[in-house]
Amino acid sequence: MRKKIVAGNWKMNKTLQEGLALSKELKELLENKTINCEVVVGTPYIHLSEVAKVVEGSKIHVAAQNCANKESGAYTGEISASMVASTGADHVILGHSERRAYYNETAELLKEKVELALSNKLIPIFCVGEVLEERESEKHFDVVAKQLKDSLFELSKEDFAKIVVAYEPVWAIGTGKTASADQAQEMHAFIRKTLADKFGEEIADNTSILYGGSCNAGNAKELFSNPDVDGGLIGGASLEADKFLPIIEAFN
Ligand code: PGA
Repeated sequence: MRKKIVAGNWKMNKTLQEGLALSKELKELLENKTINCEVVVGTPYIHLSEVAKVVEGSKIHVAAQNCANKESGAYTGEISASMVASTGADHVILGHSERRAYYNETAELLKEKVELALSNKLIPIFCVGEVLEERESEKHFDVVAKQLKDSLFELSKEDFAKIVVAYEPVWAIGTGKTASADQAQEMHAFIRKTLADKFGEEIADNTSILYGGSCNAGNAKELFSNPDVDGGLIGGASLEADKFLPIIEAFN
């Protein structure tokens, strides 16, 4: 059975102190609750090791929001997958549309990052999604299939089986405009079919596919009730514990 996952993506928000306070609050809120999904917090790099210490032994996992496409060496300002893993983080968000759009991350570069993440035992949360113009011209399925193919389809079945996919329509990110439950289900089913054609039914069935884009306490339950939506990647609503918690509880 594939995992249900609710992952927060703090993006470039929170000082170290604020991030620690948020992770402590979340940990305490989850302590005495039964939850039916895995919880991940995607923090800025500098928070990783401190947040990992705070949440150790709890139900919360820690993700970086990026890693370098090189193993180590003279790459000033970069953070490698092995450095991320050494903090206690166990996931890494890769291919987020903001990285693709503002930092020119190409499919080839992401392929390298995915491989390094996997070889350092990090679980990649690999993001795909179309921009508004692509949806309006009905190219969204082709765009998403190409993003999957160009960065992930050279992986072995065994390696691909470790990946979590996040479908994030770019027009829904931070805009307050969510994909409808039907639009999300339609794309998630398409992604699963694309993965089944490449890696086989069993692997596709076991792959968690998360929805991201203005997901919040008000719409999470409806989105997550779709058969192919296995949870969410949450930006804005992950920045406050009392907004993030109901999204986690949408699986209860
Ligand atoms: P949002 O961001 O929830 O603020 O729309 C989602 C994301 O970019 O992962």
